[in-house]
Amino acid sequence: MSTSMPHAFDPTLATAAPWWRPRAGDRLVIRGGRRLFGRYPISGAKNAVLPLMVSALLTPHLVTLHNVPASLDVAVLATLLQRLGVGLAWSEGSAGLSLTLCADQVQPGRIDGALVARMRASVLLLGAILARCGAASLPLPGGDAIGLRGIDFHLAGLRAMGARIELHSGLIRAEAPDGLHGAEIFLPFPSVGATENLLLAAVLAQGRTTLHNIAREPEIGDLIGCLCAMGAKIADTGGGVLAIEGGVQLTGAIHTVMPDRIEFGTIACAAALTDGEIVLDHTQAALLGAAGPLLAEAGVALEPIATGLVARRAPAGLAGIDLTTQPFPGFATDLQAPVMALLTMARGASAVTEAIFEQRFRHVDELRRMGANIQVQGRTAWVRGVVRLQGARVTASDVRAAAALVLAGLAAEGETVLDGLDHLDRGYDGMAEKLVACGADIIRSVAG
Ligand code: EPZ
Repeated sequence: MSTSMPHAFDPTLATAAPWWRPRAGDRLVIRGGRRLFGRYPISGAKNAVLPLMVSALLTPHLVTLHNVPASLDVAVLATLLQRLGVGLAWSEGSAGLSLTLCADQVQPGRIDGALVARMRASVLLLGAILARCGAASLPLPGGDAIGLRGIDFHLAGLRAMGARIELHSGLIRAEAPDGLHGAEIFLPFPSVGATENLLLAAVLAQGRTTLHNIAREPEIGDLIGCLCAMGAKIADTGGGVLAIEGGVQLTGAIHTVMPDRIEFGTIACAAALTDGEIVLDHTQAALLGAAGPLLAEAGVALEPIATGLVARRAPAGLAGIDLTTQPFPGFATDLQAPVMALLTMARGASAVTEAIFEQRFRHVDELRRMGANIQVQGRTAWVRGVVRLQGARVTASDVRAAAALVLAGLAAEGETVLDGLDHLDRGYDGMAEKLVACGADIIRSVAG
């Protein structure tokens, strides 16, 4: 699974996403040691907007999404959809960036394999296009190299709905000439992607689908909300079971993307790590699930206010915790790296166990370059707090590792140079700029 991101160079992305500026080879120069104070507007959630954009493929009518994050993954998916024949119209207003999608014409044969191979969420095109067009073929998806990241649950579910699927030299060929039909599906693990893919397919499949052991991440709820606004018949019968009455002609919808709970949790850590005070609008602690109380234990204080929350360091300071990543409402694996950056400067020791992905400690060596004291044994990283970190030249290997290194750079003495910025751009809409507005000393040095 490749980690280089040539498409950040790809000027054609700006055709589908006019706000995107190719930024290949840029790096961040972070001068640490400043306390952060100010308001940090949390963007729409990356992991909600991607399936929402794909859901527009299920209807010929207009779907308008508000609060869309201007991130690289959104630009890539917009390009993929445009090449499939989907009409796109962008606008900027009080609801932030908005996107109207019109999939009255879908040309399934025009999936851009090179872009699919770069982004995991593109696998969602499989369920949606198969349900809408009766056939779909695309390469195995790419994305962050954080583990095996199989799609066997996705394929097994689609086969149960009547699809014939072949996997050959890295290409998935799926067809359901008579359309998909409802099925009873038991997910072996509450996979986010498999839940979303099968939900998208089941909405158009003839008959009733029952999905057991679904993922319960808030982004799934956001997708269900939008699909129901389009006329889908989806019932959460409790106990991790969804009942979908398929075969409905969907209408259009207008939907506001939920706030990004991972960005929220990450910036709350930045406030505590720099001993500052940051106002996080449009957020609520419940979005963090089990991470909320654990962050409080680690010294991240969240005070509710009218517009959201204020994050700061707790009077008792930062303290070591033990955490294990779990599906929601457990501790989010996407917060593991940023919280590890916080724990590198906490009093005492922490045990950080990554139970979702097999290789999600690629930020550890980079944090060690900055003076962190971390030992990895199997799926657990033992973090012993140090008094200070030093600036260094570090490279991001994935979206959340990039955020963790930004946090470490903010807290470190001296200058940190962060390479691999495409990963940060993939997952966040203007994180550096928003941190500078809170007093951070960050310069984006443009390559070339
Ligand atoms: C989604 O990935 C998110 N990505 C990930 O965020 C997030 O880390 C993950 O869910 C878990 O919360 C998007 O929403 C675009 P999974 P996904 O299917 O769907 C195994 C980020 O940084 N599995 O829930 O790929 C899989 O290998 C990204 O924003 C199978 O074995 O996650 C993993 O170990 C990174 N077979 C586990 O399940 C399958 O068919 C959870 O994966 C599917 C999954």
